[in-house]
Amino acid sequence: MHLTLEFIKEKIKDFKPELAIVLGSGLGAFCDGLDGISIPYGDIPGFSPAKVKGHKGELLFCNIHGKNCVIMQGRFHFYEGHPLCQTTYPIKVFKKLGVEKLILTNAAGSLRKDLAPGSIMIISDHINFMGSNPLIGENDDTLGTRFPDMNEVYSKRMRNILKQCAQRLDIELREGVYCALSGPSYETPAEVKMLAILGADATGMSTVPEAIVAKHCSIETLGVSLITNYAAGLSDAAPNHKEVVEMGKTAGSKLCKLLNEFIKNI
Ligand code: HPA
Repeated sequence: MHLTLEFIKEKIKDFKPELAIVLGSGLGAFCDGLDGISIPYGDIPGFSPAKVKGHKGELLFCNIHGKNCVIMQGRFHFYEGHPLCQTTYPIKVFKKLGVEKLILTNAAGSLRKDLAPGSIMIISDHINFMGSNPLIGENDDTLGTRFPDMNEVYSKRMRNILKQCAQRLDIELREGVYCALSGPSYETPAEVKMLAILGADATGMSTVPEAIVAKHCSIETLGVSLITNYAAGLSDAAPNHKEVVEMGKTAGSKLCKLLNEFIKNI
């Protein structure tokens, strides 16, 4: 951690990020036109290079509407082989840099017929079906307690602000439970049915570990899913990564507008 912080601080000098944003598949366009200091993950001690198509793999430190931000263009996934303590390493780094607020975005599959691709879903809560937990291992008491409470992982205050922003912009917003599985295989139709019965509305392969770590170290978090496809069995088409990235790009512009309005208002 010491080497990571030293390296980043040398690059950003006296820039102090207060808000971190993690961009999901296809949402890289959020950074178009933003000017700042970018650092490829591969250069940062303690980070591993991001390899997934549709992800850029760098940190961008920049000011958006008067707020000092650090943006993750692409994230680390469990299915790439990183342990969860490693996929969430950037969140711990952000905390040590002084970040107090976090926006997590992702591309997700819909588990409900009435939640159509192209929808934006605020995450109200999550189910961790990854089969592991990012806090396994020695607890860092400087970050948080051994057995952290997981009520309101996703800030009610931020969810309300996002809803007000959506209303002003006339953007339809849904709210629901996100369930994370490890991937990289998509779900079977039987698993999709099960997840819906268990109370989930959307499914994906990220976000939950980062949200757990953020809650552990008391970072106020907003989670937003861009619904890119119907999960397996809900439509004739089989989910595929190209479709996920393409829908991320198409419907992503709506989400980018909404996030800009949100940043102005927190
Ligand atoms: N399943 C899991 N992860 C996903 C999906 C899906 O259908 N779509 C985008 N990420």
